[in-house]
Amino acid sequence: MRIILLGPPGAGKGTQAKTLSERLRIPHISTGDLLRQNVKENTELGREAKKFMERGDLVPDNLVTQMLISHINSSNPKVGFILDGYPRNIAQAQLLDKMLNQSKDNDYVIYLDTSEPVIIQRLSGRLVCGVCGKNYHIKNMPPKHDMVCDKCGSGLIQRVDDQEETIKKRLDVYLKETASLINYYEKRKKLYRISADDEPDIVIKKIVDLVSANSHDTDKV
Ligand code: AP5
Repeated sequence: MRIILLGPPGAGKGTQAKTLSERLRIPHISTGDLLRQNVKENTELGREAKKFMERGDLVPDNLVTQMLISHINSSNPKVGFILDGYPRNIAQAQLLDKMLNQSKDNDYVIYLDTSEPVIIQRLSGRLVCGVCGKNYHIKNMPPKHDMVCDKCGSGLIQRVDDQEETIKKRLDVYLKETASLINYYEKRKKLYRISADDEPDIVIKKIVDLVSANSHDTDKV
């Protein structure tokens, strides 16, 4: 099963992908997480990507695509994956189409539909663990202990691109570059639209119900 989660920054792609990955037992691949890992490890790619990410711009296609291909090849692509943060523009979608080679019945593009006020509220309150990367929200999904990760006990931080000005820039970039993918996948009859303004548990239930209803592999759900 191959699932692509599409949606604006803060729609909940990462949050849902992590839960879905545990339920379906297929890997979650987040290009944002892979890039942040490269920045943290100060690799050549990380040094190059950092300046784009901090401004809220997209990292050039060739860098991201190369990184994604080597990640998929080094994992077990046969079991499928949940893709979060890729594709981000039409050129990436076309490359992905080629990469996936053939269309499978179990391919889903799920668009997490969210409104702008919800996005701003979510991103301005997001906290992440600086060590294991677990995601929190200061109000919506707070940690048990103030600023401490429930999972590994490390300190929580705010992402550098979650500052107000950068959030606005990322939303602009989303509208200019990424939103056209909704139409791209609708035309190919691959798009499933889900309202993502609800609580995380309700959103995950909608995704799982959708996949169960359409899957030929329902015992995996
Ligand atoms: P990336 O990390 O992909 O960022 P993004 O797309 O902007 O998405 P976010 O991670 O901000 O949001 P999300 O939808 O995952 O929401 P989350 O679940 O965290 O990319 C970062 C940067 O890397 C880009 O700007 C770009 O520079 C670069 N990049 C990445 N991929 C690229 C590509 N393909 N090409 C080029 N450049 C690329 O949730 C947000 C908050 O809301 C959290 O606090 C969470 O706890 C809370 N929350 C989530 N769901 C709910 C809910 N249902 N109810 C209440 N609160 C919720």
